[in-house]
Amino acid sequence: MSRIRKHVERLHPYAPGEQPKVRGLIKLNTNENPYPPSPKVLAATQQAVDGRLRLYPNPTAQGLRARLAKLHGVGVENVIVGNGSDELLALATRAFVEPENDCVQYFTPSYSLYPVLTDIHNARRNEVPLPADFSLPSVKELRASKQWDFKAALTFVTTPNAPSGRGYATADLDVLCRAQKGVVILDEAYVDFAPKNAMEIASQHGHVLVSRTFSKAYSLCFQRIGYFVGPAKLIEALDKIRDSYNVNGLGQVAAEATLKQLSYYRANFRKIIQLREWTTEKLAGFGFQTLPSATNFILTKPPRFAARTWLKKLREKKILVRWFSDVRVKDYLRITIGSEREMAALLKAVKRILKD
Ligand SMILES: Cc1ncc(COP(=O)(O)O)c(C=O)c1O
Repeated sequence: MSRIRKHVERLHPYAPGEQPKVRGLIKLNTNENPYPPSPKVLAATQQAVDGRLRLYPNPTAQGLRARLAKLHGVGVENVIVGNGSDELLALATRAFVEPENDCVQYFTPSYSLYPVLTDIHNARRNEVPLPADFSLPSVKELRASKQWDFKAALTFVTTPNAPSGRGYATADLDVLCRAQKGVVILDEAYVDFAPKNAMEIASQHGHVLVSRTFSKAYSLCFQRIGYFVGPAKLIEALDKIRDSYNVNGLGQVAAEATLKQLSYYRANFRKIIQLREWTTEKLAGFGFQTLPSATNFILTKPPRFAARTWLKKLREKKILVRWFSDVRVKDYLRITIGSEREMAALLKAVKRILKD
């Protein structure tokens, strides 16, 4: 007799990108930032490692929420902080979606956690394919397609999109949000590398939340800090169902210190964006077709060999990139923009592979 619920036995967990145990690999597979946190953030975090570790952290991440509220020009009641934005995305399915009856909706390809969360919650998935160029379909096109559900209890929109890297116009997102009856989450995990963001939409509607993370742009994956901004009523619902101490103390310290050093991080965004454009151009010289990106990664169609073969060949040269089996993107590699040295190593490896 199994002691595990049948529903749980049938679940497939989220497959995170490989975190290699061997040293010396160049990691361009999980969209981490190549630059370390600001020295002041490291110092603040190190200084917090003392007798305080025996105490519980602030249960509502009050100081951090106050700073985030100020940054975005909203009230503290409009902000919730999570153990990474992944935690908040999971809480959203639990707070806004009735299991079995309701549907969670998202475009494909987009963040591969959404189907996992939907299945865990035993809700219906509504997966709507993006067009071949991964652009955002207009409301008119969505109505005509008859696949899109304007009454979906919860809609996730990854913007800029992952893994395509494509950015979406705020005005287009606003029109889509207006057409939806249920909750919409604009997942802006990569937005700091884009020319625009949709944060203003979160304050204009009663049903739109914007999701952000310190992981990618703020070099803080290790500390697991993400947050939502949106209407107080929705934030309050999420707050009711989170764990009492969901955000660890050192993470709160590191994130607060980060918000005092924004110019350090903004300089890094500029470097990464420049390097993204440089890498795209250099790869084009080798016959790679790269989609325009508004993120810290590129989706690129390699020449000569299948993308999956490139994944193996690059790994043999100690470079980790990401390949997805999804039919829409199986001909592409997703490559995180690393440091100058790492991107030079990538190009050197590409040259060698094409020569061998
Ligand atoms: C689109 C998207 N949203 C959210 C996340 C999760 O970020 P966090 O580290 O804050 O949980 C990721 C991480 O890969 C992502 O790609």
